[in-house]
Amino acid sequence: MKITVMTLFPEMIEQSINHSIMGRAIQNEIVQIEAVNIRDYTLNKHKKVDDYPFGGGAGMLMMPEPIYLCYEAICKKSGGSPRVIYMTPQGKPWKQSMATEFAKEQEIVLLCGHYEGIDQRVIDEIVTDEISIGDYVLTGGELASLVVIDSIIRLIPGVIGKQESFEDESFSDGLLEYPQYTKPRIYHDMEVPEVLLSGHHKNIENFRRQKSLENTYNKRPELLENIEFTKADKKWLREIKEKNNHL
Ligand code: ADE
Repeated sequence: MKITVMTLFPEMIEQSINHSIMGRAIQNEIVQIEAVNIRDYTLNKHKKVDDYPFGGGAGMLMMPEPIYLCYEAICKKSGGSPRVIYMTPQGKPWKQSMATEFAKEQEIVLLCGHYEGIDQRVIDEIVTDEISIGDYVLTGGELASLVVIDSIIRLIPGVIGKQESFEDESFSDGLLEYPQYTKPRIYHDMEVPEVLLSGHHKNIENFRRQKSLENTYNKRPELLENIEFTKADKKWLREIKEKNNHL
């Protein structure tokens, strides 16, 4: 997979990608990430990329031409016209299911805004998707694009060793993950739940499902609205609700 980031601050991307799992995926050539400086595509000698908004208002806007020329150069190099994802608080809220979809693409381009935003005409011209990583405003799209890149890359086959390691994780089945425990068996007088030591796979599976439901009910109850429950789930949920009523 090839990911190109269009930005005024390529160092912010370059300095963050060569670590941990993302760094290994790049080293193993499973993914290629390139940060392209939009400023390199200005036509004026001062390399100016922003100007005042027509109609007045606070701050500066990124001008359309350098962004368009930058995208054109990316397309020329790739021989295609990859999807362009604009990072903006106006975008669709980023979700695990969207990361799964984007992980199937051969090539994507992320566009990072700065200042007060980007001239609408180039957005209309090249952007295929608008994504927000949450209801707050960042100073630019770079940190948001790193969040999106990280969550996509880890889903590409071969990036995380065992495929099972994300089968059970939060959101993979719409629920939050169950609690996990490792050695020692007793820590500060707290014991690992007995069932996890039993070796009884079915009981362990049931315990984890129950804890997943309980975690989701307590921490993110709105997620339960999209789940298809089994009969056993419904029984556990009744018990969880009853337990909560008695607290
Ligand atoms: N750029 C600025 N704020 C952002 C946000 N919340 N999500 C994505 N891109 C952004």
